[in-house]
Amino acid sequence: MEFISRSADQTRRLGMRLGTLLKSGDIVCLIGDLGAGKTTLVQGVSAGWGSLDQASSPTFVLVNVYRRLDGRRLFHLDAYRLSGAAEADDLDIDNLLEGGPLVVEWADRIREALPEECLWVTLSWVDEGQRDLMLTAKGSRYQVLLVELRKQVFGVS
Ligand SMILES: Nc1ncnc2c1ncn2[C@@H]1O[C@H](COP(=O)(O)OP(=O)(O)OP(=O)(O)O)[C@@H](O)[C@H]1O
Ligand SMILES: [Mg+2]
Repeated sequence: MEFISRSADQTRRLGMRLGTLLKSGDIVCLIGDLGAGKTTLVQGVSAGWGSLDQASSPTFVLVNVYRRLDGRRLFHLDAYRLSGAAEADDLDIDNLLEGGPLVVEWADRIREALPEECLWVTLSWVDEGQRDLMLTAKGSRYQVLLVELRKQVFGVS
């Protein structure tokens, strides 16, 4: 599914729609250069998921944890500062996923440490205010999720 975003707010809104669909065990893998809009998308995802806290770049920790009123958690990993998949293995991603959904920035840097099945989102800079988002489902869970998202975004299946 391709989506052209014409503003940061539009990217946040797409993230919000995605966030409402996420369940424990889901993993969303983001790829895109500096300033492509990964964190902006995560802000929407966490809001849509129901987080009480606003999402920000994980600067002092590798994984941000956002909480919901019902006590559930959403994890936000920034792989930029990881040396690679080996270091990511130490984070025990499978264990994280048991506790809630996970969104990963710079996921391509730790590809070997990620599950086979993921929702991949590639963000590309088009111009100052526009970004191209390409969403690709790997695995049946994410195909279902993408069909749902497409319905919400474009109003068709
Ligand atoms: N259509 C758009 N979608 C998302 N962000 C946009 C868009 N247009 C402009 N922007 C701006 O681009 C910047 C994106 O920054 P953001 O922190 O989300 O990028 P990032 O991919 O997380 O970068 P980094 O790799 O440094 O973490 C923001 O300043 C945002 O306002
Ligand atoms: Mg970021």
